[in-house]
Amino acid sequence: MSLVAVVALAEGCTFIQPETGDRISACVDGDSDPANAIEFKTRIRPLMNGEKPGTKGCAACHYSTSPNQAGQEGLIATQLDLSSLRTLRNGGVNTRGTIVVPGKPCSSAIVQKLRGTANGARMPKNGPYWSPEDIQLVADWIAEGANGGDDE
Ligand code: HEC
Repeated sequence: MSLVAVVALAEGCTFIQPETGDRISACVDGDSDPANAIEFKTRIRPLMNGEKPGTKGCAACHYSTSPNQAGQEGLIATQLDLSSLRTLRNGGVNTRGTIVVPGKPCSSAIVQKLRGTANGARMPKNGPYWSPEDIQLVADWIAEGANGGDDE
């Protein structure tokens, strides 16, 4: 194997850069807990809204519905609007078509950004970053088909 291939593999999905957060294990496309179906509305929406104590949400920077539009730096930079599941599915300028790939969490840009393995900053930008368990909820929801309706 060439050195280039080794470096590419090492940077792929194994560990994130030390300056962007904790080391997390390799991404796995399977559902980590098939007995428990993850509902977007009740399990993931509250995390994005910042409703879980100690967890930084996405609303400060990616919500078209926020009263503070001037501070919406993620929305302004990429058009990614996480204020509804419908707009989330549209992705942003760099993630249209890849934001959520049903059945493939490791190929889904939202999981890559939460893990810190995508281009640009790890999300939520400047941290604190989500726990591996909370990121896994998003991964499992996608592994299960990324279901849910417009108002979620
Ligand atoms: C402090 C502001 C801020 C917060 C909070 C934030 N983001 Fe971002 N987000 C940005 C900025 C700025 C960019 C563009 C630069 C980049 O990608 O590094 C971005 C880009 C993204 C992108 C790439 C979109 C594209 O098409 O390029 C995704 C996906 C994303 N954010 C998801 C999230 C998620 C999920 C959360 C909540 C867990 C979140 N962000 C919280 C500021 C933020």
